[in-house]
Amino acid sequence: MKILSVVGARPNFVKIAPLMAEMRKHSDIRALLVHTGQHYDLEMSDFFFQDLGIPQPNINLEVGSASAARQIAQIIERLEAVLESERPDLVVVVGDVNSTLAGALAAVKLGIPVAHVEAGLRSFDRTMPEEINRVLTDAISDFLFVSEPSGVENLLKEARPASRIFLVGNIMIDTLKSCLARARQLRPAEDQEIWGGKHSDRPARFALVTLHRPSTVDNPTLLQALWRALEEIGSAIPVVFPVHPRTRKRLQDLGLDASPMAPPFAPANGIRPIAPLSYLRFLHLESMATFVITDSGGIQEETTVLGVPCLTVRENTERPVTLTEGTNTLVGLDPERLKQEAQQILCGKAKRGRTPALWDGQAAQRIVGILEQKLPEVSRGA
Ligand code: UD1
Repeated sequence: MKILSVVGARPNFVKIAPLMAEMRKHSDIRALLVHTGQHYDLEMSDFFFQDLGIPQPNINLEVGSASAARQIAQIIERLEAVLESERPDLVVVVGDVNSTLAGALAAVKLGIPVAHVEAGLRSFDRTMPEEINRVLTDAISDFLFVSEPSGVENLLKEARPASRIFLVGNIMIDTLKSCLARARQLRPAEDQEIWGGKHSDRPARFALVTLHRPSTVDNPTLLQALWRALEEIGSAIPVVFPVHPRTRKRLQDLGLDASPMAPPFAPANGIRPIAPLSYLRFLHLESMATFVITDSGGIQEETTVLGVPCLTVRENTERPVTLTEGTNTLVGLDPERLKQEAQQILCGKAKRGRTPALWDGQAAQRIVGILEQKLPEVSRGA
């Protein structure tokens, strides 16, 4: 079986790593990797390949940054040529980014079966670019690999056939479990550019922040109010903020300086902006944080497994199990609520949770087992 996987953006790399590793264990599978080039910076891409031991992509489509339409169009066009020459038996796409949808579309148009890893998640908010990517990718995929029970329900409601839906668990958690011990050992040089000085200078408690979604950071009034809220939280607890390139630009437009911190590492407002972190360095901080503030999808899941309280700055989540079973709380696009919930945690009233079923580090193994068994049937059009 020749299986070609398509990745493009940071969260994709975390999801493909265990699958590439698992496929390489099977002599009947030839695994190819295509990087679309959606993310191209060292910090957004290369460091993830290094940390996660992902093999170098066989092909890089080098599409770079552009509007969603251009990005998707260019990926389809360039990937079509690759698929025509490679003729894989299956294309695997992961997550919900533009590269996911484009990869799936290029494949189905050539009659190549598609597997979608992390299928079925729904925020029911069609203003989110990722929601459109999720709905459309699931509509054209032959294998729907799902991470939590809500995904199965959503796909059945959308009339996707039950025979194509597989609840396999959460592949990001495979990566987390295999990397956590290594991530926890990082120190003290890794700490230095955040806290300065020695390892012992790291405070016992700190909050970790990531914000990058257009709906959060492209609204100047909201972004400014969130920054002020972070400053207030920063007066009670140090706030470490690895800043996504989009967010840095938007903060700059508001006259707010989020350039990586320089010595003496003691910001007056308590916020410590740093460059985006590699996977291991981020996981290191995430696992040690008192709480996390985010608008990311995957971080809601990681904090649930780590048992770290997570305040999600969004009105909805496509990962409801992190609310019902995990440590996640939705605070809306509401800086006041964010401050109140942070205060609750600082008073010792943090939400506790448990790890959802099948988030056990074995998702990739389940996926490859199903593909080995079922792909021959799908390829024959059964
Ligand atoms: C994409 C995903 C989002 C995911 C996020 C993780 C879509 C629709 N969105 O959003 O779901 O959570 O990745 O980061 O696919 N840029 C750089 N260097 C890079 C990449 C991007 O500077 O290596 C800047 C560019 O100015 C670019 C902007 O970031 O225009 C946005 O990048 P883009 O790939 O369009 O989407 P993200 O916001 O990163």
